[in-house]
Amino acid sequence: MQVLSVASEAYPLIKTGGLADVVGALPGALAAEGVSVRVLLPGYPAVMAALGAAETLWASANLFGAPAQVLSGHARGLDVLVLDAPHLFARTGNPYVGPDGRDWADNPVRFAALARVGAWIAGGALSGWQPDVVHVHDWQAALLPAYLHYDGAARRPGTVITVHNLAFQGQFAAGLLPTIGLPPWSFSMAGVEYYGDIGFLKAGLRFADRITTVSPTYAAEIRMPEAGMGLDGLLRERAAVVSGILNGIDEAVWDPAHDHLLAAPYDAAHLGARAQNREALQAHLNLAPDPEAPIFGVISRLTWQKGMDLLLESLPAILESGGQLAVLGAGEAELESGLRAAMAEHPGRIGCLIGYNEGLAHVIQAGADALLVPSRFEPCGLTQLCALRYGCVPVVARTGGLADTIIDASPMALSAGVATGVQFAPATSDMLSAAIRRAARLYRDPVAWQRLQRNGMAADVSWRDPARQYAALFRELAG
Ligand code: ADP
Ligand code: GLC
Repeated sequence: MQVLSVASEAYPLIKTGGLADVVGALPGALAAEGVSVRVLLPGYPAVMAALGAAETLWASANLFGAPAQVLSGHARGLDVLVLDAPHLFARTGNPYVGPDGRDWADNPVRFAALARVGAWIAGGALSGWQPDVVHVHDWQAALLPAYLHYDGAARRPGTVITVHNLAFQGQFAAGLLPTIGLPPWSFSMAGVEYYGDIGFLKAGLRFADRITTVSPTYAAEIRMPEAGMGLDGLLRERAAVVSGILNGIDEAVWDPAHDHLLAAPYDAAHLGARAQNREALQAHLNLAPDPEAPIFGVISRLTWQKGMDLLLESLPAILESGGQLAVLGAGEAELESGLRAAMAEHPGRIGCLIGYNEGLAHVIQAGADALLVPSRFEPCGLTQLCALRYGCVPVVARTGGLADTIIDASPMALSAGVATGVQFAPATSDMLSAAIRRAARLYRDPVAWQRLQRNGMAADVSWRDPARQYAALFRELAG
């Protein structure tokens, strides 16, 4: 079974969020299921630099305005096809945003090019290799099934679109239609038209054979108006082909027993070693070296989706509980400055690193006692899965994948011995504050707390089961 996976990021080559983690981890997990995956990625500088010896498999003198080629090779453990199109991708930094902090104006053309070339490959453009199934991720790759449809190729692989976040829809002016090589008749409700514009994600949801999203709860939520964000009608219409498959985490990357980034690696039998990691975290973020204070960690994009404004409003609950806060994140300027101000106001109690830092993410998972994830919506979420594996107790909003992966420490779940964290709903600062106080009380009951930690560490957060589900879906499509 040969699969072409198409995405705009893949760990460890280029990452802005969980999408990269998933796209980068699935090929390894699917290999164990007899599925081989080649990942088609844009030729950003970071990807080009990581590509070893490569072979040119396809070339065009004019891909939306300039020459381009597809290179095949290996890059940091991934079998990749790279769309080398310097006019579109030879730009350093964030893959979507320019130095002025705004989306690149030609993003629709850049990612239409990725999907356009992916559809040619799906249709048999590479001599000697044609995928049985094409798996596209998010709006950046979502036009692929539409191109395949309008190409009308004789032998067409099955297509799956995975929605990692319905909030990012790729909606662009209708006038771009000829520029991105779609026929005029594609511009209809039954085609790529979306509220008078072109909808990339809409097109993918319309034309893919199967639609998945990254948790069963989010799969249900997006068929309702509130989380459906304009696409719920189409998702209801296509409900028969919509399903949710939970994400896993890469157990080699996130392994507390062999994590060289930690002050003291540990496993479930040696939770005491977390004390050293706590000290390291406190030192790193200038938190007081208080052995009693529960440390609440946050590793997040600083956005409304992630409830980071609620976090700011709930700081009193952390402080009044005698806790400390350790934040790693970057995002909206207002939230960044709010956190900086809080840190200045409460030195030693609130520590933040505003920015992106993979090493510190591991240190927080190993050193914080609880991880706060107060998202307003969360398709799956990966940080709470890492937290489970590290014995850092997740405190999460009951939504999307957070609802599916954490078992709340209700009196019943505690007495049954199955709880793994704290959940709250709805996502308001009052409810978050109450959850923080509840977590702090549980923390002061070492027996209950260790039970939560051990249950979390025993939970299966690997890719094994999800990979089996994707493999089954691909097999069903390939016939
Ligand atoms: P999303 O993709 O919506 O941002 P996820 O929880 O699915 O949320 O994935 C976030 C990923 O990015 C995780 O691997 C997390 O550890 C990582 N991450 C988020 N913010 C940072 C940061 N500031 N520095 C390092 N890693 C981060
Ligand atoms: C998106 C979602 C997140 C999910 C990730 C990977 O970024 O916001 O919930 O875990 O994709 O699927």
